[in-house]
Amino acid sequence: VLRTLHPVGLSAVVPVVVGCLVLATSCSSPDASTHVEQYAPESNASTSAAVRPPVGDPGRGRELVERFECARCHEVPDVVAPPLTKQCVGCHAAIADGGFEAPKALLAEWRGRLHSLPAAPSLTVARQLLRPSWIQDFLLSPHDLRPNLAATMPRLAISPAEAADVAAFLAGPPTSALPPFEGDVEHGRQLFDDKGCSACHAFSGAGHGPPSAVGSLAVVLAPDLRWTRERLRPDRLVAWIENPRAVVADARMPHTPLKRSEAEALAAFVAQAPLGPAPTLPTVTRLPVLERPVGYEEVREQVFHKVCWHCHSQPDFARGDGGPGMSGGFGFPPLQLDFSTYDAIQGGYVNHAGEPVSLFKPTGPERLPVLLSVLLSRQREERGGRGDHRGMPLGLPALSAQDVQLVESWIAQGRPR
Ligand code: HEC
Ligand code: HEC
Ligand code: HEC
Ligand code: HEC
Repeated sequence: VLRTLHPVGLSAVVPVVVGCLVLATSCSSPDASTHVEQYAPESNASTSAAVRPPVGDPGRGRELVERFECARCHEVPDVVAPPLTKQCVGCHAAIADGGFEAPKALLAEWRGRLHSLPAAPSLTVARQLLRPSWIQDFLLSPHDLRPNLAATMPRLAISPAEAADVAAFLAGPPTSALPPFEGDVEHGRQLFDDKGCSACHAFSGAGHGPPSAVGSLAVVLAPDLRWTRERLRPDRLVAWIENPRAVVADARMPHTPLKRSEAEALAAFVAQAPLGPAPTLPTVTRLPVLERPVGYEEVREQVFHKVCWHCHSQPDFARGDGGPGMSGGFGFPPLQLDFSTYDAIQGGYVNHAGEPVSLFKPTGPERLPVLLSVLLSRQREERGGRGDHRGMPLGLPALSAQDVQLVESWIAQGRPR
């Protein structure tokens, strides 16, 4: 029965992907015309700007949050979580912490393979910390924020107006302006190590890579502080560093006892330290197709059943829901795309216009098969670009050049069984 909850329990072994291979190259440069609100300039990181209410419609935003099923991954304020069988993060977390009822041996096997979505940031915390304008931009062009979390925010089919509505719904209560703080960047740099901040946080471009010891979810969920100056509400920075749990009761970041002057120095370091270039991923080259024979079994084990199948499967396996790429979800219509068997893969899917499409149909300027195009598109998305299709696997690390080569070789060899 347990095996039917989710297309799980197959014997494919998933190598552990440590850290995110997807350090973003591009932070979406905010486009002034789409901003939902404006802030006063922040010369001093500043606390001087009061946060103005966003322009979107919070009521519509709430409806959209339900339509896009944000609560399948996030804790969302005032939105009830769906049943466990629909919760990507909730179910994975229950498996990790033993709250999921299954035989011990099976749980251990699953835990060995589960690594992509052990947790997601809480939007209850995010609404207190993040600027609505940043949330809007991020929903339109998500990029990687957390080096130790393999999954990224998926690129949804959301319009700028819808993103503004969602941002308005998620906007925390406005606060009054606080006096600007004084802090010495170099003192903050010193404290960042001395007070243990660097045990959890990367601060790329300011000399701090990802922490190597990934013990707890607090480390997994600690954002790279490189993005903080563009995303955090300026009036929250010092207060958060001083005591996160006084800002939001369910903050994961622990309270570090600090003097006010130390919190200000750390805030100055976070907000004002000169930043080197964003980390970039090496370019991936497409490898030539393999000479040796590549059969279905190998591609199934290495690709289809390792990741694709978790969102594109038979409803029987998943109690009436074949995953968002099959039965619809996250705001997408049902595409009926099933990666569970050879025949299902040959069957293709139904596009948004209701037309049947083969996964092997040549598309785009390069006339690449759809299946290959989605994989290459994901590699591009991770490097700040866009491909001809929405990149797959959706919101998860792109396939390696070797895995793409395997798929391409299998297609080139006539898709042998
Ligand atoms: C499939 C799971 C999934 C779904 C569905 C999803 N998200 Fe996310 N989201 C993530 C992950 C994972 C991250 C963390 C990304 C990172 O750290 O790089 C994230 C990050 C975010 C962030 C940044 C929060 C922070 O503290 O960094 C916001 C805001 C957000 N999501 C909003 C939404 C909204 C709104 C929706 C629905 C419209 C949504 N998400 C749907 C997985 C999801
Ligand atoms: C009912 C519990 C449950 C739900 C709901 C669930 N999963 Fe999983 N998921 C699992 C288990 C168990 C595994 C490991 C099984 C295996 O690989 O044999 C897994 C594995 C995965 C994997 C492959 C391993 C990895 O970490 O990369 C991905 C990707 C994944 N799930 C994504 C999702 C997404 C996306 C959703 C929501 C649409 C989801 N899961 C919903 C239980 C669940
Ligand atoms: C045990 C891990 C841990 C430690 C230690 C830690 N943090 Fe955090 N920090 C987090 C997590 C997790 C978040 C995300 C919000 C949350 O859920 O609590 C966060 C969020 C932040 C943010 C908001 C960043 C953003 O872009 O959203 C700042 C700023 C920050 N931390 C600064 C610090 C400073 C300065 C220190 C040292 C005094 C520190 N942190 C120590 C885990 C940690
Ligand atoms: C986290 C869930 C998830 C995972 C994992 C995933 N997909 Fe998808 N996939 C989706 C969703 C949702 C859609 C629908 C997107 C749309 O309608 O634009 C989709 C659509 C597609 C499409 C149709 C794309 C188009 O533009 O018409 C292809 C092809 C595809 N996926 C292939 C894959 C392959 C191959 C993998 C594994 C490497 C994979 N998917 C993994 C969720 C997922």
